[in-house]
Amino acid sequence: MAKNKLMKFAEMKTLDRVFEPEKKDFLDQPYNLKGKWREKVFGNDNPIVLELGCGKGEYTVGLGKKYPNKNFVGVDIKGARIWAGAKQANEEEINNVAFLRTNVDFINYFFGQDEVDEIWLTFSDPQPKKPNKRLSSKPFIDRYKKFLKPEGIIHLKTDNTSLYLSTIDEIETHNYKLIKKAHNVYETHWDMFNKEEQDVLTIKTHYEQLFANKGFKIKYCSFTV
Ligand SMILES: C[S@@+](CC[C@H](N)C(=O)[O-])C[C@H]1O[C@@H](n2cnc3c(N)ncnc32)[C@H](O)[C@@H]1O
Repeated sequence: MAKNKLMKFAEMKTLDRVFEPEKKDFLDQPYNLKGKWREKVFGNDNPIVLELGCGKGEYTVGLGKKYPNKNFVGVDIKGARIWAGAKQANEEEINNVAFLRTNVDFINYFFGQDEVDEIWLTFSDPQPKKPNKRLSSKPFIDRYKKFLKPEGIIHLKTDNTSLYLSTIDEIETHNYKLIKKAHNVYETHWDMFNKEEQDVLTIKTHYEQLFANKGFKIKYCSFTV
């Protein structure tokens, strides 16, 4: 393994509010933070927002800075990516931000009923050949329902037309409630967002920058389930 990656993995273990559970920690017994993130991790009673497939955590950290009265948890399987956001949050003492390294397949083992207020899916892998592996597919939504509040909003931001359209399709097929959709956020649809929404949508992830530089139009939708 590259030396740089090993260094990041080692440093992850020293950072505050970074959790890297092993399977036995949540499969053989209830995970120790399940239902207790506010109390044990954040020490407050504020809403919890997840970013699933957070990569380097630009939304988690960006939202954490904008909203000190909410708590944010970035989730990704790749430790070397999470490291970037976790390091920034530690250095800048953004104490309402945490990271969880796990496979989103297991996400319902980590949060209790109604513990989560919102979910962001940022530039998720489009999984063209495995529709049920898309983070906005029904098998994942069914997992999220176990811990997302009934009116909790799911946000999807992507460059990928197939992922965007398949998510809209899932919303219609399963009678989820669409809140907003835009197939070209920054150009044709910018005015449909209020000032606060624009402020949030302005945060750009690593993958967003990569794809925007190649000329891809950025898409967004939000819905409740
Ligand atoms: C295309 S990248 C986007 C990263 C980041 N959100 C961004 O916009 O820059 C997709 C991320 O999702 C993560 N990912 C994909 N499937 C996952 C899963 N089942 N569990 C955890 N992470 C996953 C990958 O490790 C990767 O970091």
